[in-house]
Amino acid sequence: MPESKEVWTSRLGVILAVAGSAVGLGNFLRFPGLAAQYGGAAFMIAYFISLLLLGIPIGWAEWTMGRKGGLAGYHSSPGIFHAIIRHPLGKYLGLLGFIIPVVVYMYYVYIEAWCLGYALNAATGTFSAPGVDYGKFFATYTGAGGDGVALHFGLHDVGIFVLIVYVCNFYFIYRGLSKGIEFVCKWGMPILILIALIILARVMTLGTPDAAKPDQSVLNGLGFMWNPRDIATGLKNPQLWLAAAGQIFFSLSVGFGAIITYASYLKKKDDVVLSSLTAASANEFCEVGLGGLITVPAAFVFLGAAGIVGQGTFGLGFNVLPFVFSKMPFGDFFATIFYLLLFLAAVTSSLSMLQPGVVFFEEGLGLGRKAAMAFLGVLTGLGTLIVWWFSKDLKALDTIDFWIGTVGIFVQGMILIIVYAWYIGIEPGWKETHEGSAMRIPGFYQPVMKYIAPTFLLVVFVMFIAANVFGWNFSFGAAARFTPTSYVTDLVGPNPSPVARGAFAFMAAVVLIIGWLVHLAGKRWDRQEGRKHS
Ligand code: ALA
Repeated sequence: MPESKEVWTSRLGVILAVAGSAVGLGNFLRFPGLAAQYGGAAFMIAYFISLLLLGIPIGWAEWTMGRKGGLAGYHSSPGIFHAIIRHPLGKYLGLLGFIIPVVVYMYYVYIEAWCLGYALNAATGTFSAPGVDYGKFFATYTGAGGDGVALHFGLHDVGIFVLIVYVCNFYFIYRGLSKGIEFVCKWGMPILILIALIILARVMTLGTPDAAKPDQSVLNGLGFMWNPRDIATGLKNPQLWLAAAGQIFFSLSVGFGAIITYASYLKKKDDVVLSSLTAASANEFCEVGLGGLITVPAAFVFLGAAGIVGQGTFGLGFNVLPFVFSKMPFGDFFATIFYLLLFLAAVTSSLSMLQPGVVFFEEGLGLGRKAAMAFLGVLTGLGTLIVWWFSKDLKALDTIDFWIGTVGIFVQGMILIIVYAWYIGIEPGWKETHEGSAMRIPGFYQPVMKYIAPTFLLVVFVMFIAANVFGWNFSFGAAARFTPTSYVTDLVGPNPSPVARGAFAFMAAVVLIIGWLVHLAGKRWDRQEGRKHS
C-alpha cells in the first residue's frame, strides 16, 4: 500500500483530536443524567472501575492496533484488521469499526443541529420570551412530538441547522486530517473548556435563588448528584454496572471505530501509552469535573429533585435547561454559550465519525476524496432523513442508537481486546504498545488486558443483553423473569412499531451493503498485496 500523505502535525494535535472525539454530548448530557439516576457515589465507583479495567486498557489496545495497521498502510478499521489478521475473514472483524461511526453520525449530527439551533434561539431571546412553552418547543423542534413535525426550514426550525452542520462537517473532513480535524480540535477544545468553566462559575455561584425554597441550593444540588446514598445496595444492582460500563465506552469513543483510524496516522515511534492516557484524562476532566458539576446542580437549584428525576438525557438538556437558564440573571447569554459548548463538543466528535468512512471509500474502493465524500454524504444523509422524519418519541433515533451505538460498541470493544490480547498475543502486543512510549504501563495491566477485561466485558455484555433486550429482572433463583424490553417488542411483539422495524431494516441494509463493500475492498487489497483472494 502507498504511504498515506495524511499526518498529524504534532503530538498535541493527535491528543486533542482524540480528546475531541471523546468529549461530546455524552459528557455534558448523558453522564450527569446517569450519575443522578443511579445515585451518584455508587455509580461513580462502578464508573471508575470500568474506566480502569475497560476504558483505559482497551484504549491502549485500540491505539496500538491503529498505529500497527497504519504502518502497514491502512487507515480504515476493516483495512487495519485485514493487515493484522492474516486471514480472509480478518477484515470482517473490523466491519463494526466502520459501521458504528457512520451510523452513529446519522443521528448524532441531528442532535448537533439542535444544539446550534438552540444556541441561536437562546441568543434571540426565544427562551426568555413571556409565556414560552418549553415542552412544546422541544416537541416540535426535535420532532419528538410527532413524525415529520421537525422537517421544516424556518428560523425557529431545525432544518437549516441540519444543513449547516452537514456542510460544516464535510467541509472540515474535506480539508483533511491536519487542516480540518486537527484545526477544529485545536481551537474547539480550549474554547469548549473555557465556556464550560464560565458556566461552571455561574452555576456554582447561584446560591439559593428562591428564598422560599431554601432546600434548593447549589450545595444540595451537588449533594443530590454526589452524596453517598446506600452505596452497597447501588453496587448490587447489575443495571448500574451496565450503565457505567456503557457510558465509559460511549464517552471515551473506545470501540467506536474512531480512535483506531486516528491512531493509524501515527508514526512507528510515536507514543501511544501516554497520549491515550492523556486523551482519556482530558475526557474525564470534561465529564466528571465539568459535565458532572453543571447540568444537574443547575436544574436542581431551580426545580429541585422532582424536576430532574425521570427526565431522559434529551429532556434534561433540551426541555428542562432552557427553562432553568431563563430563571438566571443573564440567562439568555448563559444559555447561548451552553448550547454553543454542546455544539463544539458534538462537532469535534462527529468529525471523528466521518473520517473512518471517508478513508474506507478511499483505500478500500479507490475513490477520490470528493467521490468518497459524496458517497458517504448520500448514505449518512439518508439515515439522518429517516431519523428526522420518523421522529415521534425519537423512536428511530433511539432504536438505531441502541442497536448500533450501544450494542455495537460493546461488541467491537470485545473484538478489539480479544484480538490484541489473544491473537497478537499479550507479550508481543505489550512490546508493540511500548514502542516509542513516554511511560511504561504498570505490569498488572497484562493480566487485566488478557483475562480481566475480556471476562468483565463478556459478563457485562451478557447481562446487558439479558436485561436490555430480554428484560431479565435479575432476580436470581425461582423468581427470575424475562420481560422483553421495548427494543425487542417493538420488532417482534404483538404490537410492533413500524418505525422501529423500519429503522432496524435500514440498519440491516446498511450492514449488508457495507459488508459487501468490505468484501470488494478485500479483493482489491489482496490484489495489491499479491495475496490469495479472500
Ligand atoms: N464520545 C462521544 C460523546 O461522548 C461520542 O459524545
